[in-house]
Amino acid sequence: MGEPGTTKFQTDLRRHLRQRGVERNLIRIICEISEASKYIINSIRTGDLGVAGTSNLYGEEQLALDVLSDRILQKRLKNSGVCASMVSEENNDIIRFECGGGDCYSVAYDPLDGSSLVDVNLAVGTIISIYKGDNVLLRGREQVAAMYILYGPRTTLVYSTGDGVHEFGMNQLMEYTLVQENVTIDGVGGIYSPGGQRNLYTSGTEKYVLSLEESGHKLRYSGGFVPDINQILMKGRGIFMYPHLKGRPQGKLRLLYELNPMAFLVEQAGGAASNGLMPILDIEPDGIEMCAPVFIGCCEDVATAEKFIAEESV
Ligand code: AHG
Ligand code: MN
Ligand code: MN
Repeated sequence: MGEPGTTKFQTDLRRHLRQRGVERNLIRIICEISEASKYIINSIRTGDLGVAGTSNLYGEEQLALDVLSDRILQKRLKNSGVCASMVSEENNDIIRFECGGGDCYSVAYDPLDGSSLVDVNLAVGTIISIYKGDNVLLRGREQVAAMYILYGPRTTLVYSTGDGVHEFGMNQLMEYTLVQENVTIDGVGGIYSPGGQRNLYTSGTEKYVLSLEESGHKLRYSGGFVPDINQILMKGRGIFMYPHLKGRPQGKLRLLYELNPMAFLVEQAGGAASNGLMPILDIEPDGIEMCAPVFIGCCEDVATAEKFIAEESV
């Protein structure tokens, strides 16, 4: 704490981005998204919890909150003047915008991940993937930034522009101020988050999970990808999986706006993210709706998953 009577200086998000030398139009995009999150928070706290009466390109029923959160983000990106194209979990096509002078960016996002958890008051989040230029249908390795906002007991924002992973907390003025820099995943053990139905796990994944339990990993699974990944990042260890399932070889999670941004952040924190055979970030997307199995977290646990899958060849 500083001297009595003085308030500790707080680095806000824009200042931090400037200090890290981030390109000014990328700063604009990231700050526009952080502003949009304040309206998303408001819609979560007070909005309609019902269904929107529509479904997304996965045939999943959309909630009013999904559609509202998507509209909030889309409007911000369109008005930013530096977003050339976007893809959202809640839209069927790539949407293109007029882009002013200077560097332009493209964004793939999940406006409200875990939205079905809001009515049971569990934590949810917004997931963002950012590319330079006017194309998002690229390998995750090409991302220039990734971030998420976690709407939990505290609202936090985690971002990386390829120079470490940094966490911000929302203060009473709804400003994001720096909590910690260079978050790292360097521990072993801890927790495991097994998504999907265990009875549909292949033998390789089943043997892997048994090995995690034998090595003392504790099960922690909220059903929300953002809080489940955030827990691994902030504790610095653990593994999340939503594996290939019998009858569902590509698992459930979406490559462009769930797996790629989280894989970028976890690799930046010193962890790993794999589809069981190769790094998530090296997967060539064949369409905006592409899904992939995922094992993401500490390097050792991801390598062990790949070993079991290779041994069982499933
Ligand atoms: P979304 O709410 O954006 O559709 O995503 C939900 C995802 C993700 O948050 C979570 O990891 C996964 O669904 C949970 O799936 P199951 O309910 O099948 O476990
Ligand atoms: Mn999602
Ligand atoms: Mn969603």
